[in-house]
Parts: sequence; C-alpha cells; structure tokens
Amino acid sequence: MEQTFLMVKPDGVQRNLIGEIVSRFEKKGFQLAGAKLMTISRELAENHYAEHKERPFFGDLVNFITSGPVFAMVWQGENVIATARNMMGKTNPGEAAPGTIRGDFAVQVSNNVIHGSDSPESAEREIGLFFHEEELVQYEKAG
Ligand code: CMP
Repeated sequence: MEQTFLMVKPDGVQRNLIGEIVSRFEKKGFQLAGAKLMTISRELAENHYAEHKERPFFGDLVNFITSGPVFAMVWQGENVIATARNMMGKTNPGEAAPGTIRGDFAVQVSNNVIHGSDSPESAEREIGLFFHEEELVQYEKAG
C-alpha cells in the first residue's frame, strides 16, 4: 500500500484548516495511517528540507516551519503520492488551480498551507523523520 507524508504547515494550523484538509483526503478515499500535532525543532526542519539547503529562502523556510504547530500525517492508498500532490496544487499558490488546497486557501509560496512528499523516496524518508513505526496503524483488509 503506497503511503505519503503530508503536513499542514503553521499557517494552515493557525487558520483552522486542519479539518478542511483532512476532510478532503478522507472524502477522496484515502486512509489516514498516522497523525500528530507537533512543533518542529530546527534540527528536524533542517533535515526535512535538506534538499533546499543552498536555496536563498532556506533560512526563511526553516524559521517559518518552526514558527508554530504543524499537523503531520501519513496517508495511504493507490497512487496517493501523486494524487495528493494534484489535490494540493502547484507549490506557488498563484499558479495553483482553483479546487486545489493551495488554489483555494493560499496566496504566497512561503505560506502555502501544506507540504506533501514528491516521490516514493521522499515519502519514505519523510515518514521516517516524523513517525515511529508504532505510531502508524494497520487496517484490517476488508472482506
Ligand atoms: P514545500 O512543498 O513545503 O517544499 C519546500 C518549500 O519551500 C515549498 O513548499 C515552499 O513553501 C517553499 N518555497 C519555495 N520557493 C520559495 C521562495 N521563493 N521563497 C520562500 N519559500 C519558498
């Protein structure tokens, strides 16, 4: 079963968008395998965003993601990594289509409400950074 890591960022938590965002993935038909409200340490933030270390916005990115609680989640289902990215919309909310999470709820690229893994490798790495195996549930196979 494919899994992905999704995170409501501090702006989304502050704007009370956790329920709206969880609801979209539930209604789509994906399963929530784990979730927690947490405040990210600088060490975890720098690790999570390591691929952006050389970017000019890296410092701002780490400051922002550690600025308040985030809602970290693991979702599972068929093709969930790519489908969740489609549901989130483009990274820059100005280019994100209406009907997507960023298209509906965000304006700025730095405050774009949600993060989602962009590949199976990222998903595995990010789930491992944020969750212990025992924090994720197993669902009985239906039927
Ligand atoms: P995310 O999907 O969490 O992955 C990296 C983040 O960097 C991205 O979402 C944006 O929020 C952020 N980002 C990308 N470009 C910029 C930028 N030019 N300035 C600030 N933040 C950015």
